[in-house]
Amino acid sequence: MTTPTPEEHERLHHLRRVVREHNDRYHRQDDPILSDQEFDHLFQELLRLEETFPELQDPDSPIHRVGAKPLAEFAKRYHGKPMLSLSNRFSSGDVHDFDRQVREGLGMTTGQVDYLAEPKLDGLAINLTYKNGTLHTAATRGDGTVGEDVTLQIRTIPVVPLTLHGGDHPGIVEIRAEVFIPVAAFAKLNAQLHRLGEKTLVNPRNAAAGAIRQLDPKITARRPLTLFCYGLGLVEGGHLPPTQGEILTLFAQWGLPVCPERTIVSGPEGCLNYFNYLSSMRHDLPYEIDGVVYKVNRISWQEQLGFRHRDPRWATAHKFPAQEVSTRVIAIDIQVGRTGALTPVARLNPVHVGGVEVTNATLHNFEEMARKDVRPGDTVVIRRAGDVIPEVVRVILDDASPQLRQPLILCPSHCPSCGAEVVKPDQETVARCSGGLSCPEQRREAIKHFASRRAMDIDGLGEKLCELLLQSQLVTTVADLYALHRHRPHLEKLERLGEKSVSNLLHAIDQSRGRTLERFLFALGIRDVGERTATSLARHFGNLETLMAADPDALQGVADVGPIVARHVYDFFSSPQHRAIVQQLLAVPDTQWTTMAMDANREGNRQPLANKTVVITGTLASMSRQEAKIRLERLGAKVSGSVAQKTHFLVAGDQPGSKLQKAKALGITILNEEELLRLLS
Ligand code: IVH
Repeated sequence: MTTPTPEEHERLHHLRRVVREHNDRYHRQDDPILSDQEFDHLFQELLRLEETFPELQDPDSPIHRVGAKPLAEFAKRYHGKPMLSLSNRFSSGDVHDFDRQVREGLGMTTGQVDYLAEPKLDGLAINLTYKNGTLHTAATRGDGTVGEDVTLQIRTIPVVPLTLHGGDHPGIVEIRAEVFIPVAAFAKLNAQLHRLGEKTLVNPRNAAAGAIRQLDPKITARRPLTLFCYGLGLVEGGHLPPTQGEILTLFAQWGLPVCPERTIVSGPEGCLNYFNYLSSMRHDLPYEIDGVVYKVNRISWQEQLGFRHRDPRWATAHKFPAQEVSTRVIAIDIQVGRTGALTPVARLNPVHVGGVEVTNATLHNFEEMARKDVRPGDTVVIRRAGDVIPEVVRVILDDASPQLRQPLILCPSHCPSCGAEVVKPDQETVARCSGGLSCPEQRREAIKHFASRRAMDIDGLGEKLCELLLQSQLVTTVADLYALHRHRPHLEKLERLGEKSVSNLLHAIDQSRGRTLERFLFALGIRDVGERTATSLARHFGNLETLMAADPDALQGVADVGPIVARHVYDFFSSPQHRAIVQQLLAVPDTQWTTMAMDANREGNRQPLANKTVVITGTLASMSRQEAKIRLERLGAKVSGSVAQKTHFLVAGDQPGSKLQKAKALGITILNEEELLRLLS
């Protein structure tokens, strides 16, 4: 080990101070006095000294804010507790309903529930994990269970403490936060980009998401990102206060930024007063919001209320009304989706709605378009609500005589993309191209969906690359993706694809061989098979071949699968075209998607509870039932809702009820919470 001289020691401390100061000038005071180059020079010197004398390490050193090297790709990270979403409410009636459901859930007959009310920020959800008070990792929400590791990027955000202030932090604490770019900083950034002749950013939310998903954290560091912390995930080792409001105050004491507009309100009237207050000052706030969030203040009540699917019953988002503007329809195109659905889409004179430039709006289907009587050339009102695709609401008829309007576009008898017949069963509103995978548009959409993040997650394979691969004829179906490595020289010659991007693409495709059966089933794009149904099918059949052989009756035996979905699954696997593709996919070597058992790899092959059926009853003190369920499932257990002869364990929390009696009668092993925790660890 090299020992620093007193000069080196002094220089290191000096550089840390100077770098911190210039970072602050750049980010907070908006008054940089060093050029990027001069700054980098100092930074590199500091980095060299830190690397030479690791014994002088300080987790608070500014070098920990900017990583030295760009990443090759984002690593995946499991959240300790899933990151949930929020149910939406739109009217005061909805808010009264929410409060009623909360009170019913708590068995309350009198009195008011206190809520923590705060703005719903329009940014990007992040999970920060602090271990013994030091920032350990940061991950994006991803699919709620697994996100992308963006620790290096998050470290560059000046307001994020690398170590928590004060003492007495939990051993592990997950902090949930929203990352965003303040409105003024966004305008300034765009003006700068414009001056430099670079592409400007569409809105603060996209700009924030784009900045976080930079493999090179130095680029992230140059974006004016900030965040507010609003909640907790996993907490281990430590005691936290009993209310949401006090927890946020504690966050602030730890040095974590929290929203100053938060407050405690009482009952639905308190919620609505807060909503009105925030609506009136929405445009004066320094950040964009799209509504407000109400959360039951008392944590024990939150735990008692639990979850429904992915949404907590103890919290909800009250959204501001959708924004509407008028513009002209330049043309109406017909898009063909991955299941052949034909959707008329209005191409618009570009307009800004809620900070986003809108150039297309959906007309949903031909019946809807005829009902609204939307025609090319019309002036229309369009609406955009949150993340939803903008839609045409109605036509504004001016004084021009109706004869001057262009004719209504009718549903074509043949697909505009492939010429196959268009079919529309009487009871359905959607018309579909019958061309299946012979239709080029369906093919492209199928590949795009297969590669998408929630499906096979093939990084970089978006719309443009799909189009390019299809045009090159190297790819006609999703199965061809796994043969692409044999065509490397051909790929490298394609326009806009260099050696580097080909390597990245082939690597991303290779990685996707590790996806699970449920993701794979979702990726196939079977009509009406979303992520939930795909998971149910995977769990029920356990492997692809058994599922492919199942008839509609067998399919209807699956949770969430009714006659229509069963028919769609059956039809999908009966089509010779689809069978051929799936057979090719089954022949890809070293894949994890053929059977459910391989799924265990997620948790490093630890499946000690495989084939064990567990039932949970009563209230657990250390986690919600939902969390216990997820953690047991990760270890391979099947968690069932009712006790039966085949149940292996019953986990009994507080106030267990009739399930406990039944389990005792059947002689089933009963575990208390402590025993459950031992089992989980
Ligand atoms: S609480 C269990 N609070 O909205 C509670 N979320 O629709 C989960 N969001 O993914 C979220 N501001 O990205 C919560 N004050 C706030 C929020 C907020 C913005 C986002 C967050 C979440 C999404 C849910």
